Amino acid sequence: MNVLAKILLSLLLFATAGWAAAADQLVAVDGPLGPRLDIGKGGQCVEDPKFMRSNHMRLIIHQRDETVRKGIRGSKYSLTNCVDCHASKVNHSVLGSNQNFCQGCHTYAAVKIDCFECHSSKPREFRKASNLAVENLK
Ligand code: HEC
Ligand code: HEC
Ligand code: HEC
Repeated sequence: MNVLAKILLSLLLFATAGWAAAADQLVAVDGPLGPRLDIGKGGQCVEDPKFMRSNHMRLIIHQRDETVRKGIRGSKYSLTNCVDCHASKVNHSVLGSNQNFCQGCHTYAAVKIDCFECHSSKPREFRKASNLAVENLK
């Protein structure tokens, strides 16, 4: 096999089986037929995962209104916190494939969100230095 073929083959393997090996933990959501999501870093969620499954949108959307109108920041429900924990170690994002945490579940549930048009989908340590002035935005 020439070098190029080897590179292509390893990229292909990485894109398929590779994810399962490189990800920390794939969690099956909604039974065996549901998506398998890369939950990211691990640790403990800000609330019980069962509660989060049905209520996460209320926590962060409510806070957006509070933040933008009244300038409240940095609570435990900050979107930056979610992304720091739930970004995959494979591509350092909560988006990008149907195994990525936010995207995978939303594709499955046919939900569309616009949050990441402004907010960064990457954990703080992988954001561009030039953007650190507004640290939770792109
Ligand atoms: C300290 C790390 C951490 C933080 C911060 C965090 N999570 Fe979690 N989250 C987890 C872990 C670990 C789980 C458990 C996954 C499992 O075992 O089901 C989880 C579970 C969830 C689930 C349920 C997934 C499922 O299994 O159905 C949702 C939804 C969720 N988190 C959203 C969020 C949102 C939104 C935020 C920000 C407000 C957030 N999380 C902050 C670590 C974190
Ligand atoms: C048009 C751009 C834009 C969009 C789209 C947007 N936001 Fe924001 N968001 C902002 C700005 C600006 C702030 C305030 C910046 C700051 O606090 O640093 C903010 C702050 C926040 C905060 C508080 C700070 C933090 O890091 O947690 C949360 C939570 C939040 N937004 C959630 C969301 C969610 C959820 C969505 C999608 C439903 C969303 N935002 C969509 C611009 C946007
Ligand atoms: C376990 C599956 C699951 C995961 C993981 C998940 N979501 Fe959701 N999300 C949903 C479902 C289902 C809905 C729609 C619920 C409804 O319409 O009542 C939703 C709705 C939302 C909404 C509101 C959309 C709207 O316009 O009503 C926001 C904002 C949101 N999710 C943000 C996030 C973010 C940010 C992440 C990653 C940190 C995330 N979600 C991870 C399942 C998930």
